[in-house]
Amino acid sequence: MKPAFVFGTRPEIIKLSPVIRAFIEAGIKPLLIHTGQHYDYEMSRVFLEELELPEIDYHLEVGSGTQAEQTGKAMIEIERVLMKEKPDVTLVQGDTNTVLAGALASVKLKIPVAHVEAGLRSFDRTMPEEINRILADHASEVLFPPTEEARRNLEREGITENVYVVGNTVVDAVLQNAEVAEKKSDVLERFDLKPGEYLLITVHRAENTDSRDNLEKLVEILESLPMRAIYPMHPRTRNRLKGFGLLKRVENIENLTITKPLGYLDFLRLEKNAFAIMTDSGGIQEEAIILNVPCLTLRYNTERPETVKAGGNVLVGLEKERAMNYLRRLMEEGEFYERMAKAKNPFGDGKAGKRIVEILLELYKAGKLKVRSSRFI
Ligand code: UD1
Ligand code: UDP
Repeated sequence: MKPAFVFGTRPEIIKLSPVIRAFIEAGIKPLLIHTGQHYDYEMSRVFLEELELPEIDYHLEVGSGTQAEQTGKAMIEIERVLMKEKPDVTLVQGDTNTVLAGALASVKLKIPVAHVEAGLRSFDRTMPEEINRILADHASEVLFPPTEEARRNLEREGITENVYVVGNTVVDAVLQNAEVAEKKSDVLERFDLKPGEYLLITVHRAENTDSRDNLEKLVEILESLPMRAIYPMHPRTRNRLKGFGLLKRVENIENLTITKPLGYLDFLRLEKNAFAIMTDSGGIQEEAIILNVPCLTLRYNTERPETVKAGGNVLVGLEKERAMNYLRRLMEEGEFYERMAKAKNPFGDGKAGKRIVEILLELYKAGKLKVRSSRFI
């Protein structure tokens, strides 16, 4: 079987790495296609190196742009490669513009798409990611929802065949790298941070960064933090803060360290040793509960409701009072802290990558890895 991976951003590289590894362990070298949606060293190459992935076969250098520019350019370039290489299946992961472009280009060439982390829904159609999720799921032939909840979302939309709940490959990635991170990363020493005594912060969502009002609310939260904090800043947020004239204000906050985005090993070690995490990232909400660290999510909805139901994550939006209230409770009520920290990981056992490869190989051998004319026959 000849599988092709299409990816282009930081979280896709991290979450696909266990699947790529599982193919290699099964004796199959997959084709790797990088759209170049993320292109800075610390947003892309660092992960390829740290995760020891094979060389990329095609760099498409799509770069940044408007939604349509980025998606359209990626589609054109991906189609060119798929037409030449004719893989048996195209794997995509998550909900970025790269995923939508890969799924559409592939299915229209009648190359079946396998969607890793299918079925997530925030039920907020104003997010570009929600549109990408829905369309990619409907273009896919084989779907790998991480949880039962995600499977039910697919069922509600009529997608019931070739759906396999396998867990989330984020667990595989954490288990494969957490120990290495503890050994290799000196991030705590570099930033003079003590385990359990700092907050880890990330923010990059369009809905939080694209409006000055929302960014200002974020700045007010950062100015009110009750303990030392570190914030590896996504380039999108840095650009927006600068554009709205807010960057200096953030840089001047005394107990807040702003850094460039960090490599995966540094970031994992920072997560594992944080007192709590405040984020609007999808993957970081998942990693927090896997690593037993309380998470306050700076959003009003989440496509990871399992983390909230399990008790490890609270949606605080950009409400300063609400965020500070939870932080105070975490600092003052030991029992409350323990309850959040010990919430059970809902994303599986860390063998999702292996399962995905086994299922695809079985379908292929049975001649069933094909784009069918209808899901309902
Ligand atoms: C994208 C995904 C988002 C995902 C995130 C992971 C979409 C619609 N969004 O958001 O779901 O959570 O990746 O981090 O696909 N930039 C750089 N250097 C880079 C990459 C980006 O400076 O290497 C800057 C550019 O100014 C760019 C901006 O960041 O315009 C946004 O990048 P883009 O790829 O459009 O979206 P993300 O915010 O990264
Ligand atoms: N991450 C990282 N360095 C950072 C910030 C995040 O390695 O400075 C990792 C993090 O461990 C997680 C992934 O990047 O695996 C999350 O990516 P991001 O928040 O950009 O995207 P999302 O998950 O929201 O799509």
